[in-house]
Amino acid sequence: MSMEKLVEVRNLKAYYKTRSGEVKAVDGVSFYIRPKEIFGIAGESGCGKSTLALAMLRLLKPPGYIAGGQVIFQGKDLLKLKAEELRSLRWKYISYIPQSSMNALNPVKRIRDQIADVIKTHEGEIPDEEIDKRIEELFTSTGLSPAVAKMYPHELSGGMRQRVIIAMSAILNPRLIVADEPTTALDVVVQRGILQLLLDIRNKIGSSIMLITHDMAVQAEVVDRLAVMYAGKIVEIGDVDHVFKEPLHPYTSALIGAIPSIREKRRLKGLKGLPPDLRRPPPGCRFHPRCPHAKEICKKVEPPLVEVGRGRVVACHLYVEEEVRA
Ligand SMILES: Nc1ncnc2c1ncn2[C@@H]1O[C@H](COP(=O)(O)OP(=O)(O)OP(=O)(O)O)[C@@H](O)[C@H]1O
Ligand code: SF4
Ligand SMILES: [Mg+2]
Repeated sequence: MSMEKLVEVRNLKAYYKTRSGEVKAVDGVSFYIRPKEIFGIAGESGCGKSTLALAMLRLLKPPGYIAGGQVIFQGKDLLKLKAEELRSLRWKYISYIPQSSMNALNPVKRIRDQIADVIKTHEGEIPDEEIDKRIEELFTSTGLSPAVAKMYPHELSGGMRQRVIIAMSAILNPRLIVADEPTTALDVVVQRGILQLLLDIRNKIGSSIMLITHDMAVQAEVVDRLAVMYAGKIVEIGDVDHVFKEPLHPYTSALIGAIPSIREKRRLKGLKGLPPDLRRPPPGCRFHPRCPHAKEICKKVEPPLVEVGRGRVVACHLYVEEEVRA
């Protein structure tokens, strides 16, 4: 796979202002996504996954705001672009599938007309026959019946609506698709179809996909590289096979050990307590109150995200020390 970077997030911070203090939902996050790669973001509910996506795409609404960082896409910082420049990138270069997007389709418009609107907004007036041809091509190449285009959203099942939304996100051949929990709340058989659809889009259109899901079984199945978030920070990144075979961060081990029960948002087995309040995260390593390996230094000093070889990075004192000794 290419070593190029399609998008690079540098030290991104996104907070929410609340009466009881600032929620540091994304607090100094750095990573990159390669062309044609499926890049996973994992972590328990509330760790900042959706906030990360919204901040990257500048869709965060008050009381959320970006407190710092850069998002470099094709040489430009998305966080510095003018509003209209950013709008011209949407759909054509970057598509976004929000969490719970199944219900985001317009109920009183046929699917075909909703997709036609996207095409026309970005490419101007185009003859109807050409639009219909493109929609038919999109549907057949993504395993959807072209008959679906003539339907209204309420005539489709939840899984079918999700397929339409994902197919729609690919209509203008974007370079990056950000999909937030696209399989959550769907049964396992329907999930499988959605995951296959994402793989098909990557293979046919060559888009990179940022796949956000707390479901580690889904991550294991489809992503190329995986980032694990805990309490607003990335604690580990690596090739998915390496991460599952030999997780480095104790939190990653706990997540993997909890499959498949993590699907049910239960407490993680083998870990004490719950993730911290992001208004007052613990000092040092944010994971230390729950970590079975915590040492004195973990309570005071924040472990930096360091490279430990084979493209793997981890933020944990267990590895920083080894570096010092070596
Ligand atoms: N509008 C808001 N105002 C204040 N705090 C918020 C707001 N939206 C989110 N948060 C907080 O920010 C943190 C991160 O939330 P976020 O939705 O990004 O998490 P997530 O990882 O996507 O969770 P999930 O898996 O449940 O979707 C949480 O502590 C959440 O309570
Ligand atoms: S830095 Fe310390 S507390 Fe944090 S994960 Fe590593 S060993 Fe555990
Ligand atoms: Mg979310």
